[in-house]
Parts: sequence; structure tokens; C-alpha cells
Amino acid sequence: MSITPPTERIWWKEPIAKVELVWIIVAFCWGLVMFFMMIYWHGAGEQNLSNEAYRISAEDFIAKTTEMVDQYTVREEAGFPVVHPPPGSDVYLIARLWQFWPILEFEKDQTYRLHLSSTDWQHGFSLQPVNINLQIHPGYDMVITITPDQAGEYGVICNEFCGIGHHTMLSKIYVVE
Ligand code: CUA
Repeated sequence: MSITPPTERIWWKEPIAKVELVWIIVAFCWGLVMFFMMIYWHGAGEQNLSNEAYRISAEDFIAKTTEMVDQYTVREEAGFPVVHPPPGSDVYLIARLWQFWPILEFEKDQTYRLHLSSTDWQHGFSLQPVNINLQIHPGYDMVITITPDQAGEYGVICNEFCGIGHHTMLSKIYVVE
């Protein structure tokens, strides 16, 4: 509460100043431009991927991931299984406090259906240096169809703040010839 009340008690009925009105119109139009750009970027850009999303429980997602890991683990790195699933298959990646599990290895120019889900709360999936950014939600199985076209080691970073260990939530994806 102010110590002295405003001189005009009905202060909200003042006419809008011209500068403010111009600013509102500019901001509104820019908002509309960005709205339609989202649709445009989906088709023309390389970072807004088409995805499918399904409901799934954490238990079911863990079960599917574990089944894939049991079948296709080729080696271990720092306690993490490195999984090389067959081309064309469904591949699962769990995001959880504070790790991605397992480490994935793809073959160049092969297509995979990559499933992403969280088993606790919301995380981010940022693939570097290609700069693909996705949200990972608990309870949802997000599927993107990917065809890596360059061999190498890619960084996976959680880019959604998820608590005290957020900055340690890093992983990698290998793409081999
Ligand atoms: Cu997970 Cu930040």
C-alpha cells in the first residue's frame, strides 16, 4: 500500500498514451508473425522435428528400455551400457534424475524410431552440435524418427532445469559408419 494515495483515484481509466498504443500494436503483430513462423519452421527448418506422442507409464517405459538394453548391449562405458540396436528398430532412451540411460549407438544413414520419456519429472533433450531440442515429459512416450547422416560422437544435454544435479545430466550418442 502506498503511503500517499494517487491524486487521480480512478487512474485506470486514463486514455492510453500514443507511444504505448504503438508498442502494443507492434508487439501484437510480432506475436502473430512468430506464431505463423512456428508452422513455417516446422516444414522448412531442420530443428523442429515431427513427433508422435503416446501415454505410457514409467514402469512400462523402463520395461521396454531394459528389454532393448538386455538384447543389444555391445559394451560398457563408466557403468553405462552402450546399446547398438538394429537399424529400423524402436530405440528407447530414459531421462531421469540425473542421467540419460543407456548410451545409444546408431549406424549412419539408417532410420530409427527414437522413444524418449522421463521416469520422474520433466527433462530436456538437447542434441549437440546439431542443436535438436526436445522436451521429455513423464507419462508420455515421445517418438521421433531419425536418420543420422554424419558419423561421430554427439552430446546429449538436459536443457530443462531439473534440480540440484541438472548440470551433471549429460550423455552421448554415437553414430558409426
Ligand atoms: Cu534433467 Cu535438467
